Amino acid sequence: MQTEKPRPMRVLVAGGAGYIGSHTAKRLVEAGHVAVVYDNLSRGHRKPVEMLGLPAVYADLADRTALVHALREHGIEVVMHFAAYAYVGESVAEPLLYYDNNVATTIGVLRAMREAGVHRFVFSGTCATYGNPDHVPIREDAPKRPVSPYGRSKLMVEEILADCLAADPHFSYASLRYFNACGCAMDGSLGEHHEPETHLIPNVIQAIQGVKRELTVFGTDYPTADGTNVRDYIHVDDLADAHIAAMSELEPGRSIVCNLGTGRGFSVREIIAAAERVTGRKVPVVYGARRAGDAIALYADPSRARELFGWEAKYRDPETIIASVWRWRQAHPKGYRE
Ligand SMILES: NC(=O)c1ccc[n+]([C@@H]2O[C@H](COP(=O)([O-])OP(=O)(O)OC[C@H]3O[C@@H](n4cnc5c(N)ncnc54)[C@H](O)[C@@H]3O)[C@@H](O)[C@H]2O)c1
Repeated sequence: MQTEKPRPMRVLVAGGAGYIGSHTAKRLVEAGHVAVVYDNLSRGHRKPVEMLGLPAVYADLADRTALVHALREHGIEVVMHFAAYAYVGESVAEPLLYYDNNVATTIGVLRAMREAGVHRFVFSGTCATYGNPDHVPIREDAPKRPVSPYGRSKLMVEEILADCLAADPHFSYASLRYFNACGCAMDGSLGEHHEPETHLIPNVIQAIQGVKRELTVFGTDYPTADGTNVRDYIHVDDLADAHIAAMSELEPGRSIVCNLGTGRGFSVREIIAAAERVTGRKVPVVYGARRAGDAIALYADPSRARELFGWEAKYRDPETIIASVWRWRQAHPKGYRE
């Protein structure tokens, strides 16, 4: 594990106009690194990139010429690859879109890195690679049984990365399996804006604000303490810090594969109650049926990240996380759309 301050690195943040990528780019710069955003804006926003004053290349990662040029022009040493499509339902309806953008495009990124002589890669993995686990908390060696093309696309990339490592002694990578990313930058500068928004906490806040008419809770008959499903909510600033810590550990021939979560699970009803405490307002809730494929409970055993690179989540209670979303959404009721 690193003890001295890591040297500054030049990092391409692929998907840096998106939610987790923009927060990570910000933290990279704050930690003294250089962050260059690469994004086709298909699902991200120019606004956070402009606010951060980051150099940016607005192009598709499938455009190999543009990508190799960007890697060389900016002297990139590490690629952090956040760019992907990430809607489970959409992946079921359009699997080829997901295998194209999440798998084929990633192969292209790895080829472009080879061409440009870049050897360090940090990948956005996901707890969706585990599917419905037999046990919680989930350890990294739990069976990988993704239940959607989205989850399978991410697992495929992990397998490709392991093969690349075996074939190339200069290569190194980290695959960080996030649980439920949430929250907004603690200084209020950046937020989460997806269209459509499928994540629980922003939907709870938008229902409180009246931006959405109500919040639908999918399933109240799960075998959990209060009948709703349980997830591990990990703050986006914590995720960003984990990327920076993992990056600093990469050296030729090394791979890091680990969970990023708090290790604690909260039910949907617990999140709603926490939001009501934070905002002092009632969440208008309607109750619907379970959604196909939703696991009962998913939360991480996050101990490997602590052992490998000394990371653990700082923001552990839902109130703190929800307060960061509430602050940002009050200042930006339309998200980045204003
Ligand atoms: N948000 C979560 O809870 C969560 C959990 C686990 C894993 N992940 C993974 O983390 C990553 C980031 O998630 P997010 O919530 O920030 O997503 P996001 O949609 O906000 O950001 C993704 C960004 O990638 C860009 N992009 C997509 N395809 C591209 C392409 N071909 N070329 C260039 N740019 C492209 C989009 O425009 C967008 O700005 C994704 O890989 C996702 O699968 C997210």
